[in-house]
Parts: sequence; C-alpha cells; structure tokens
Amino acid sequence: MKAQLAELEKEATRVLSAVAHGDALEAFRVKYLGKKGLLTAFMKKVGTLPAHERPEVGRKANLLKRELADRFRKKQEDLAARKTGGAAGLDVTLPGREPACGRLHPITQVILEVCRIFARMGFRVVKGPNVELDFYNFEALNIPKDHPARDMQDTFYVSDNTVLRTHTSPIQVRVMEKQQPPVSVIAPGKVYRRDSDVSHTPMFHQVEGLLVDKDVSFGDLKGTLTGFVHQMFGKDTALRFRPSFFPFTEPSAEVDIRCVICKGEGCRTCSHTGWLEILGSGMVDPEVYGFVGYDPEVYTGFAFGMGIERIAMLKYGIDDIQLFFRNDMRFLRQF
Ligand code: PHE
Repeated sequence: MKAQLAELEKEATRVLSAVAHGDALEAFRVKYLGKKGLLTAFMKKVGTLPAHERPEVGRKANLLKRELADRFRKKQEDLAARKTGGAAGLDVTLPGREPACGRLHPITQVILEVCRIFARMGFRVVKGPNVELDFYNFEALNIPKDHPARDMQDTFYVSDNTVLRTHTSPIQVRVMEKQQPPVSVIAPGKVYRRDSDVSHTPMFHQVEGLLVDKDVSFGDLKGTLTGFVHQMFGKDTALRFRPSFFPFTEPSAEVDIRCVICKGEGCRTCSHTGWLEILGSGMVDPEVYGFVGYDPEVYTGFAFGMGIERIAMLKYGIDDIQLFFRNDMRFLRQF
C-alpha cells in the first residue's frame, strides 16, 4: 500500500506539471481529487488493512490529499494570472498607448515669445492687477472723467472708481510710481472691454512696454519696435509708423506691418491696403510724468501696447479670434 501511495504521488506530480490549460486542470482534479478519484478509492482500501498498519497509511494518504489540493489551487492561480497578463489575453508586442501630453495655449506661447524678445533687449517683465482703480486705468493716463476716449473703451465697471482694466497701460503708472528712471519694463496681461465679434472678445491679452531715461528719443522707439517686428515676423517684414493719437503719449504712432497674407498686394485680411496695424505707441506725455513725480525736463521715454490675439492671428493666419477661447482640441493641437 505504501508503495502504491508513492507511485500515485509521482504520477499526480507529473500530470499536474504538464497541465497547460483549464480543461486539463479540471481533468486532473476529477482523476486524483474527485469523489470517484484515485485518492478517494485509495482511502477506502485503507479500511481493509490490518489494524496496526491502518493509522500510518491513512495519515500519509491524508497528507498527500492535502498536498495535491494545495498544488491544484496554486496551478489554478497560475493559469488565471497567465490569462490576464500573459500571452493568452494580451499581446505584449502591441505598441503602447501614448499618454496625452499637455502643451501651452497659443496665446501663452505668443506672450512668452514677445516677452522673450524684449527681455533680450533688457526689459524686465512685470505684472499689474486686472481689477484696477479708475485713477490708474484713466486719470493718471491723462484721460479725465469727461474725456471722449472713455467712450472708445467700452469699460466694465466694478464700482464707481474701480474697473476691469481696459488696457495694460495702467501698469506703466504703477511702475513709475514705485521706481525712478531708468525704467524699462514689459507687462503682459488680460484686459477687458464690452465687445464681441469675429475680431473682438470681452477679454483679451495685451503686452505693454515702457522705457524712460535721459535722452530717450522717438528714434529709440522706432529702433526698438523695428527690432521686435523683425524677430517676431521675420527680418524681411516691412513696417511703418503712422501718426495717431493717445491721451498718454505725444507724439503718438500706430505701427503697421506689411500684410503677412498678401505681402502688400492687397487682400481681405488687410482690407486691400497691403498693411496690418499691430500696435499703438508714442513718447510718454509729460502730463503723465506729473502724476508719478518724474521731472519732464530731465526725462523722456516711450511706451507701446499690442494686442496678443491680433499678433497671434497674423503670425498663424487665423481669421476668427473666438477660436482661441473655444477650447477645441483640433485647433489647439496645431500649436
Ligand atoms: N493702451 C493703448 C490701447 O490699448 C495702446 C498704447 C499703449 C498706446 C502704449 C500708446 C502707448 O489701445
């Protein structure tokens, strides 16, 4: 009987190690561990042994049954694991799924690029509050309460003397209030106006520039902005300074660049003029120096402000400003 038991164990071990799928495993269970299986049959025969042999053989048979049951369960787990992680359920040679990687919004990219260009020329990047006092947004920029320029900028009022800033120019005043010349700063930020169509959104972005020192001339303004346009749009891009008016600069000029679409031939984008307006600028008006305590006899300077969405539309040939705010991934992924 003992020899039979040893033989049974050897055979069961061999069979189990060859099991490679669920059906074979079930067959193993039925044959060795089942109610009509070999071990059960063996146990029954133990009863026919002489009394003194019975306990030892019985104990050994029980041990073997437990041992085989353990190995059976282990094998079951192995097969299950292989099904979910192994060759049966998953093709490990398939290429992986690429994790979606975020990127900067095109407006953010253009802001960073503009700031980088001016930072290389020595301008320091500064910020100011979006909710602004009437004093900084208008008054100190030489736009008194009854000034017609207030109508031009459809202002969101927060209270009687607080507005959502309509431009980044108030940052000029805040910087000059805190610091004596020489100053040269570049100030990006959101601005707000009550306006919405294909070329206007109620919130958009501007970048403001300000440089004040002794002996700063209009020539410095022209040189600085020419350098900027050449770096931003390519060094073959022609530009022109067109006389204009702003209450806080005198003289004032708007800067146009040769139409990037038609190269000056005339097209819809440039209204058949061959030119595109990209920014406002001028020499800081002596009136403004009065508000911040600079001596206009000693210092001169220039300022400029540009709309970022407009720059981005021209740079990338986009014809609808609303695209920047729709969060359509098909649009955003192109940048
Ligand atoms: N703040 C003006 C605007 O929003 C632009 C500007 C800035 C003009 C600085 C001159 C100097 O239209």
